[in-house]
Amino acid sequence: MTETLQSVFDLLEPLYQGHPAWPVERDRIAAAVSAAAEARSPTLRALDADRAAHPAWFGAPEMVGYSFYVDRFAGTLAGLRQRLPWLEALGIRLLHPLPMTLGQSEHSDGGFAVADYRAIEPALGSLDDVRALAADLHDRGMALAMDCVLNHTARDHPWAQAALAGDREMRGYYRIFDAADDVAAWERDLDEVFPDTAPGNFTHEPALGGWVWTSFYPFQWDLDWSNPAVFREMLDVLLFWSNIGVDAFRLDSAPYLWKRRGSVSRNLPETHRLVAALRAGLDIAAPGVALLAEAIERTADVLPYIEPQDGTRAAQLAYHNGVMAALWVALATGDAAIVGDLVRDTVLIRPDTAWLTYLRCHDDIIWSALNGRVPADALDRISDFYTGAGGFGDGRRFQARPGAAASTVGMLASLVGTEGPEALGRYRLLLATMLALPGMPMLYMGDEIGLPNHVDPAAPDDARWLHRPPMDWLRADGAEEGEGAGAAWLALTKWLLAVRATLPAFDAKAATKVHGEVPGLLVVSRGSGGDTVVLIANFGAVPQVFPFEGRWQDAIEDRPIERVVAPGTVLWATRCV
Ligand code: GLC
Repeated sequence: MTETLQSVFDLLEPLYQGHPAWPVERDRIAAAVSAAAEARSPTLRALDADRAAHPAWFGAPEMVGYSFYVDRFAGTLAGLRQRLPWLEALGIRLLHPLPMTLGQSEHSDGGFAVADYRAIEPALGSLDDVRALAADLHDRGMALAMDCVLNHTARDHPWAQAALAGDREMRGYYRIFDAADDVAAWERDLDEVFPDTAPGNFTHEPALGGWVWTSFYPFQWDLDWSNPAVFREMLDVLLFWSNIGVDAFRLDSAPYLWKRRGSVSRNLPETHRLVAALRAGLDIAAPGVALLAEAIERTADVLPYIEPQDGTRAAQLAYHNGVMAALWVALATGDAAIVGDLVRDTVLIRPDTAWLTYLRCHDDIIWSALNGRVPADALDRISDFYTGAGGFGDGRRFQARPGAAASTVGMLASLVGTEGPEALGRYRLLLATMLALPGMPMLYMGDEIGLPNHVDPAAPDDARWLHRPPMDWLRADGAEEGEGAGAAWLALTKWLLAVRATLPAFDAKAATKVHGEVPGLLVVSRGSGGDTVVLIANFGAVPQVFPFEGRWQDAIEDRPIERVVAPGTVLWATRCV
């Protein structure tokens, strides 16, 4: 153990020292970490050692992720293992199956209401299947990321059930309030996540004799992280899965952990400290495992999760939702300046951190993440644009936080127009741009074959199911043979990933410089010396002049670059020697 338990306690003591359970929990944390460190297998220790030599291992140019629901992609975990050759051929090196753990019965918010953190949903398979999946992936030089839903459990979870039955210790795992006044006082400062379908942040539970904090759905009970037992439980969950072979954890709803009266109770410094303490625990027992913060917030509020100002080590990855939303803004408005500004402002310094870059995921596009950078009325217009108001997009509005632009749901292919060469051209512009920006890219299932929106009458009352389709294997297999509607999408995706994998300049840690004074033209150079690649993307409606002298080659098309960059063109420019 290179790291010491003291580093964990140093982080936790300011949060917990006054808590009566702290002395006992401190010992329990020590025992859990030591046991996990001892139990780590030689194979996983070898991976840890490799990664110690490459602390941003997830940022290598060939590391591209793929996020999907197991049931929708392959039915079961066994089915998923059979699809690994397909994913590998696509150019994927990291899999992110969305929650696989046992969920709340009936509606589980896509698995994000967890009823057992250590059991797999029986319809998907078993723990042994995950073990086998991780081993298969490691044999192929690939990695497995898994969700850990930190902020809340399902109402079905045994802790919640025990709390409902009156168990005092388990009531202490949640935030339960007896008095309506108290609830109202907290509520005044909070935002709402699902104002349409789950307004408010508290749910009345008669058996509890009061209200339980529920930031998301009423069946997702927020844990009380001011109780050190909660920290210990969740660290133990991370250690458990790390030793099964999980390589990275997506820390779901990270901003919500710590609550403070009179504040919006998101992104508090105590929350960053908790993430750092989870990291410190893993550093002892499973140092090669990375943490990915899911903080869908304004960029300034996301940064502390990966580059804390006090020098502590927290998560290694965070969703760059600002850049994601900005790319869609650029596509809608023809002005890419917002993308350039965000990239310029968010160059990461630490050797072990990277952005997770993406275009779509299982959630909505939250425009309010750009508040302060894009005027509110412009965000409103962009939100409308992607629901078809005068534009090519065929998305839908998703519930808006009060006073903010409505979010957008829809599959990527539907947002870029679905049909025809224009849609494919927009996909090319977005994807080739995203792949050239600093970070580890993550694709979302179905986008690689241009799957459109999916209307599922059986889906829960949550518009995000519009973009959670079953994988269309007929289309995918046809595409593989060069046939059907998905062929051009798949060929393009595969090609871009394959070219990217050969370019050291696209390592997440390679140098980044944003040029570009012309509004429509995004110009970002990556790498240094002879390895330099310059992204040139014309989001605007008018042709632009290629901004550099001399002879240049486009790495995507492998041909010389002409002086005029037509609208919609994207180039990965390398200087001819
Ligand atoms: C995360 C998930 C989202 C879920 C929420 C509540 O934001 O990505 O799908 O609804 O957490 O767990």
